[in-house]
Amino acid sequence: CGIVAYVGQKEALPVIIKGLKRLEYRGYDSAGVALLNESGLSIYKKKGKVSELEAHLDTFSSLNSKIGIGHTRWATHGEPNDVNAHPHYSASEKFAMIHNGIIENYEVLKTDLQNKGYVFHSETDSEVFIKFIEDIHRNNDCSLEEAVRLALHKVVGAYAIVIMNIEEPDTLIAARKGSPLVIGVGEDEYFLASDATPIIEYTNKVIYLDDYEIAVIRQNQLQIKTIENVETHPYINQLEMELEAIEKGGYDHFMLKEIYEQPRSIADCMRGRLDASSGRLVVGGLRDYMNKFQNAQRIIITACGTSWHAGLVAEYLFEEFARIPVEVEYASEFRYRNPVLNENDFVIAISQSGETADTLAAIELAKSKGATIFGVCNVVGSSIARATHAGSYTHAGPEIGVASTKAFTAQISVLTLMALKLGYQRGMIAETRYMELLHELETIPGKVERALQLNEQLIKIAEIYKDARNFLYLGRGYNFPVALEGALKLKEISYIHAEGYPAAEMKHGPIALIDEEMPVVFIATKDSSYEKVVSNIQEVKARKGKIIAVVTEGDTTVKNMADHVIEVPSTEEAFVPLISVVPLQLLSYHIAVMRGCNVDQPRNLAKSVTVE
Ligand code: G6P
Repeated sequence: CGIVAYVGQKEALPVIIKGLKRLEYRGYDSAGVALLNESGLSIYKKKGKVSELEAHLDTFSSLNSKIGIGHTRWATHGEPNDVNAHPHYSASEKFAMIHNGIIENYEVLKTDLQNKGYVFHSETDSEVFIKFIEDIHRNNDCSLEEAVRLALHKVVGAYAIVIMNIEEPDTLIAARKGSPLVIGVGEDEYFLASDATPIIEYTNKVIYLDDYEIAVIRQNQLQIKTIENVETHPYINQLEMELEAIEKGGYDHFMLKEIYEQPRSIADCMRGRLDASSGRLVVGGLRDYMNKFQNAQRIIITACGTSWHAGLVAEYLFEEFARIPVEVEYASEFRYRNPVLNENDFVIAISQSGETADTLAAIELAKSKGATIFGVCNVVGSSIARATHAGSYTHAGPEIGVASTKAFTAQISVLTLMALKLGYQRGMIAETRYMELLHELETIPGKVERALQLNEQLIKIAEIYKDARNFLYLGRGYNFPVALEGALKLKEISYIHAEGYPAAEMKHGPIALIDEEMPVVFIATKDSSYEKVVSNIQEVKARKGKIIAVVTEGDTTVKNMADHVIEVPSTEEAFVPLISVVPLQLLSYHIAVMRGCNVDQPRNLAKSVTVE
């Protein structure tokens, strides 16, 4: 979900609507705003996209207000409809609240409140939350701020909330635990949002609210206290994000723009870290932890979704170059498994958003067992970036398309740098080989640029297979995670069922699915498992499957077998994923567009999953 709030001298509504549109990638099943003016506190909400809310608001004449809150939702409790949309009123309708996150003990609280006579209109935990605060406010005859503070001691779960109060019409009260909240500091105005994107066109000064902090915000006054009522002195960060980075810039979709940004985002990720001509490779975040990293008995990588796939690539990288055993774990499994961990383990958490609830929980667990945690995040100042002992940003710039593309290649880039550094430091890579690898790594952005020139060919292939009901993606070695990622991209945005598999495992199951209707995408670049993959291609061909193969430029063997070959520039085996994933991103993009799907905001998905 996404939160936006404003207090200042501007009209609040346009600021909030624009902000919600910028945050829509975080959730888009319903949206709402609450505004306060002389005529009172009003809430407007609508199932569907922010544009539907906007159209609905156009029918009202006087919405002018200098203070307001808005929300775009990704449903957790209760289906997406007008009633379950945020903001929610308190029973007296004196307070309105927006909430991100999940209140785990809401049923107990709800039953108590119902026994006291409270009536609930929605199925949400958020309505329970605001009525719980209201009940404390009534019974203790205290300020709203105090009631919020007392309530936060009793609720279990994650939240970022903003509340407006008719009795203090110039004040917003905000709090967070486990869900992000950024405060934009303007001239006599403040902005609140789930991330900085709605804020940067107004100010580049931001404060990241911390867990268990409550902010009381007026047009010209900001006070932050802990829930223990101790005032804190927040640090004002200067944002470096450019506005154009969060706009489509001529592309039809953010996803396409982000695919095309990869030569630059990979270069940005390596800039200042890699200089092959002088043999310089610096991963700043590692500096203080190099000793721990080098002497780790085990590296554990934890992540979700596409970031988990980047983790799988890193498993191959770290084991090959640094000879340290690696385990790659879904954060959601790891956190509940009582894993065996100790202070000799080095844990790497990978997350584009830096907010994924499961990954965050996995980090906390690993920390409690004494492990060192290193974050690989894209969003600067995000919760994971702050919860880890050290880390490196991927510097891919804001990724808005829900299906991750440039963040994936940037994650792999950072992890590649880390693996090379580690391997070299541990004496596992000879000097000349090391230099060779560094030089090759520098050529990757140019090679990705060449891979993007395959676009026209991929449009033609997409045209042929857009109506397929299933797809299989097969690869081995470094291309196995690429196969998983290719399949994930397709299912996320085109809703075609797709499975990624290690090519050789195909014969233990998926081969049963193959007939003349089944397109099979092979990632069959010239590497150590090439010959084996060629045999797997033969097996599919013998069963009349349709073969689409990503191969190394100049390959003739596969050309003779496949229905389509997509030729990508050759590189070191270990760097292939950075290139071979690009045509798969384009293929899924074009298929989704041809099927009329909403590429940037696929159904049921959200960019930032702050609930478990
Ligand atoms: C969601 C997104 C995916 C992403 C995953 C992990 O499911 O839709 O694109 O890979 O979360 O997110 P993270 O921000 O932790 O990388």
